[in-house]
Amino acid sequence: MRRLNVALGERSYDIVIAPDILGQPGLLLPFLQTKRVAVVSNDIVAPLYLAALTEPLAQAGMEVTRVVLPDGERHKNWETLNTIFDAMLRDRCDRGTTVVALGGGVIGDMAGFASATYQRGVPFIQVPTTLLSQVDSSVGGKTGINHPLGKNMIGAFWQPRLVLADTVTLDSLPDRELSAGLAEVIKYGLIRDLPFFEWLEANMSKLLGRDPAALAYAIERSCRNKAEVVSCDERETAKEGGRALLNLGHTFGHAIETGMGYGQWLHGEAVAAGTVMAARLSQRLGWLDADDVRRVIALHEAARLPVRGAPLGAARYLDLMGHDKKVVAGRLRLVLLTRLGEAVTYSDAVRSDIESVIEACCDA
Ligand code: NAD
Ligand code: GLY
Repeated sequence: MRRLNVALGERSYDIVIAPDILGQPGLLLPFLQTKRVAVVSNDIVAPLYLAALTEPLAQAGMEVTRVVLPDGERHKNWETLNTIFDAMLRDRCDRGTTVVALGGGVIGDMAGFASATYQRGVPFIQVPTTLLSQVDSSVGGKTGINHPLGKNMIGAFWQPRLVLADTVTLDSLPDRELSAGLAEVIKYGLIRDLPFFEWLEANMSKLLGRDPAALAYAIERSCRNKAEVVSCDERETAKEGGRALLNLGHTFGHAIETGMGYGQWLHGEAVAAGTVMAARLSQRLGWLDADDVRRVIALHEAARLPVRGAPLGAARYLDLMGHDKKVVAGRLRLVLLTRLGEAVTYSDAVRSDIESVIEACCDA
């Protein structure tokens, strides 16, 4: 069992990474304040894992509210969120009720936002079941939903009390989703951990082959990187760098997700194509050389991720990117690479350079 801590003072919590921990109520029970727990999942994950998680809790005397949402990014909205509140109110969940998210990043973000706002805030636990959610979205307390005009635009910071990553759940994850998770894994190497980037170059085939030791190592190292970043800049308020660096490729990627319609491109796929655009812009600024960009592209290709963007046209990209949360005082704040393993936030990119990069990185 691997255990690490996200150091946030009184909001600190552990991330536990291990196989077969879903059905071990002993890990969860110490964190439950009252006898009531609300487990939020979706119609893909619930048939696979909801009973394994909830039956031992019920046997231990817990009263369990089960909320099964429709699957998919296109349901990450107010309407679906409201069904969580409907179920919790129906079952008279009180302020001591712990909300448990069982699923990928969509469920984690929505259940987290529900727990941040239900009766002005109730305890929250993350049980992530995708690679992406185990390495990224379950850690750090960003919660929320999409708006038709912008991705993750409505939300709150709300830290979980515990993150339980059961690596066996990855066995049932479709290959395309595994690859999408690898985009966020590669991100940590690129922004702050060159030795990890090099490890990924050497071990990508093991990860794609779902080698348990390689996956557990990648999850732990990713979480360690994320925990360090979040501990230093919990609410992404640092003027430069800080938590914003975790958004490498995301401003371009969010434009793809919103522009193509939520769910068409997986989040990780959009981040992958967006990261290549960020690398190309970094090259234009003279920070990366051609071989660096080749390595960025090659590693994403090895992870079976797209390295070219969606054909939205540069004007549409820029319009959508203008709605991103990374816009500060009307200026696009991009995350770029000064070298492999080192990133900066940069607000001085010239519009024509961004347009050229988008055009070069997208099929017509
Ligand atoms: P997802 O939650 O849609 O899960 C991907 C698919 O896999 C879904 O169909 C899901 O039902 C299915 N699934 C989940 N676990 C499974 C399992 N064990 N076996 C079989 N199928 C399974 O997508 P995701 O990639 O996990 O998360 C993407 C979301 O996370 C996006 O909405 C993104 O904005 C968000 N995100 C949030 C943060 C954050 O810090 N809060 C960070 C990164 C991404
Ligand atoms: N995924 C970006 C963040 O957690 O800040």
